[in-house]
Amino acid sequence: MKRSTKVAIVNLADFEELAKKRLPRALFEHAAGGAEDEITLRDNVVAFQRLQIIPRVLRDVTERKTDTTVIGHAISFPVLIAPIACLRRFHPQGELALVRAASNAGTISIISTGACYDFKEIATAARGFAWLQLYAYRDKAVTQALVQGAEAAGYKAICITVDVPVDGNRERDRRNSYYYPREMLYGNLKGLGVKGVSRRMNNAELLAFADRELRVALTWHYLEWLKTITKLPILLKGILSPQDAACAVSSGVNGIVVSNHGGRQLDGTPASIDALPEIAKAVGGQIEILLDSGVRRGTDVLRAVALGAKAVLLGRPCAWALAVDGEHGVSQALEILQKEFSTAMALAGCARVSEITADLIRLP
Ligand code: FNR
Repeated sequence: MKRSTKVAIVNLADFEELAKKRLPRALFEHAAGGAEDEITLRDNVVAFQRLQIIPRVLRDVTERKTDTTVIGHAISFPVLIAPIACLRRFHPQGELALVRAASNAGTISIISTGACYDFKEIATAARGFAWLQLYAYRDKAVTQALVQGAEAAGYKAICITVDVPVDGNRERDRRNSYYYPREMLYGNLKGLGVKGVSRRMNNAELLAFADRELRVALTWHYLEWLKTITKLPILLKGILSPQDAACAVSSGVNGIVVSNHGGRQLDGTPASIDALPEIAKAVGGQIEILLDSGVRRGTDVLRAVALGAKAVLLGRPCAWALAVDGEHGVSQALEILQKEFSTAMALAGCARVSEITADLIRLP
């Protein structure tokens, strides 16, 4: 039976199905796809499904509270919005629509360095619910201008992505000749005095520019410098190794995001949720752990929190919701996920987020 597009949206997968019909194929594949054989991409979702939840009963769950905090910020439920570059590809209002929906839902958007709108405009729309995702530039003056510009605009934390020393090998993009739109680089760099960037760049010039300017020797030492240019808390996005998690603690950052970049970087890594228990052990509660990659259900949020994440980030489903219905779509997606999470809490016997503990999960 053919489904009409009028079908009610009841879960996050419905947004993907509708977005697939609406978006240009190359863009849909770019966002949906991962690196090489997409083993990690698929496993991110399947790994959550493998983790059984053992519910507790005869506990009073009539009144539930889903709220929590991340790095000191109160949020309505343990879900933030993952950074996705250039959201105008998915909806003309792009980041502005996204942050309005997220802040109305009481949660934080992590805004990509590759955002299409000006940081100040985004910060105003986000009303205090925005963090900056940082891709460091070769020229430290540019990185510094980005970070300090974000801080001045009212962003509340810097989340530096550490798993992109080079771009992953995304074969779908090569087959489809998919290129990032130039407004992505131009959007935030035009006011920062970066040389060699203009609206007239062709795809080859744009790629060469990004290759050159985003090739930075990011090391633990670099973080020392980053700490000196901002008062904002710093999180590292893209940690999969317990050793790196321990180094993160020693380096004095405020948090980490356990992430394989949604399966878009190194194919063959563990699913983030599978990497979480060992990382939580290595961190031992000293800094906050967030997690992304493959979160699609309220039960996934519950699993991640049970295994040691303070909260999760939601990636692709936000892009699909934006493509389907702009700000309203993202609001609807967050509402669905929050409701699923609250239901999962009740069914697992938890009235508060703090009651979601590791003994609820049977590890395979
Ligand atoms: C991303 N991601 C990403 N991460 C980042 O640190 N900076 C960025 O600019 C982007 N851009 C981006 C574009 C697109 C199209 C996708 C799909 C992803 C990665 C993102 O923040 C997150 O780690 C994953 O998307 C999480 O996995 P799920 O929820 O999409 O499975």
